[in-house]
This record gives sequence, structure tokens and C-alpha cells, in this order.
Amino acid sequence: MKIALGCDHGGFGLKETVLTVLQQLGHEIRDCGTLDGQAVDYPDIAVAVCELVAKGECERGILICGTGIGISMAANRNPAIRAALCAEAFSARMSREHNDANVLCLGGRTIGPGQAEEIVRIWLDAEFAGGRHLRRIQMFQQ
Ligand code: RB5
Repeated sequence: MKIALGCDHGGFGLKETVLTVLQQLGHEIRDCGTLDGQAVDYPDIAVAVCELVAKGECERGILICGTGIGISMAANRNPAIRAALCAEAFSARMSREHNDANVLCLGGRTIGPGQAEEIVRIWLDAEFAGGRHLRRIQMFQQ
């Protein structure tokens, strides 16, 4: 799967973990930065990742900031994006099955590498259930 990946300085450490996991799973990664720990503005990173997903150049996106809150708010400004901030496995699975989330947001200062790996694996494997859930997410556009 083609996956766009991005973080700010608050998510930089966890992004390295997530990048390694994605590579081990054989995914093709578009790394939108940041590429070091220097301070950057998370809305810029969210726009870069979400544009790749919205244009269909990547099927999914993963965004990481300190808490995951700011970068998920920024991502959901794009009407093509359904970004889900997840800190545990159940929400990660449900964000795919019920919400067809196309962007996963994580907090680099709120979860550890093991938890992040579990969330990422589950989120990538889970499939959208469709049906009544499709009708509900279609209502976002109304
Ligand atoms: C950056 O210090 C921090 O504000 C950012 O990573 C994020 O947590 C915002 O929601």
C-alpha cells in the first residue's frame, strides 16, 4: 500500500518507529517530513500528507504530532480526509470499520513505540464495513 507519512517535532521520534514498521510490512512510503527534530508547524505537514491522500497518490496517511490533537484537527479541514486520532487498538479498528478513516493520527508524547506499532498494524489490516456506516460518512459532505 502507498502510505503518506508526516510528523512535527513532537512526533519525530515516534515517526521513526512507525516508518520502520511500515517498511518491515512492505509498504511504499512517501515521507513528508519533518526529517529532523527541528521545530516545524504541524498544519503544514498535515496539508502535505492529506493532499497526497486526497489526490489518490497515496491510499492512506499517518500523521504524528506531540498529542496527535493539532495535526488531526488540521487534517480534517480537508474535505476528502477522515482523520482519526487513536491511542489504543479498539479505536484504531473501529476508525476503519465504521468511519473508513483514511488518515491515522498518533501522539508522539502520549503513546509508546509498542502501542504505536499495535495501532498501526490493526489500522492497516481493518476494512471498512460499509452499509449504514457508508451512509453516515456520506452525510459529512452534506
Ligand atoms: C508542538 O509543541 C505541539 O504543540 C504539537 O506537536 C502538537 O501536540 C499539537 O497539537
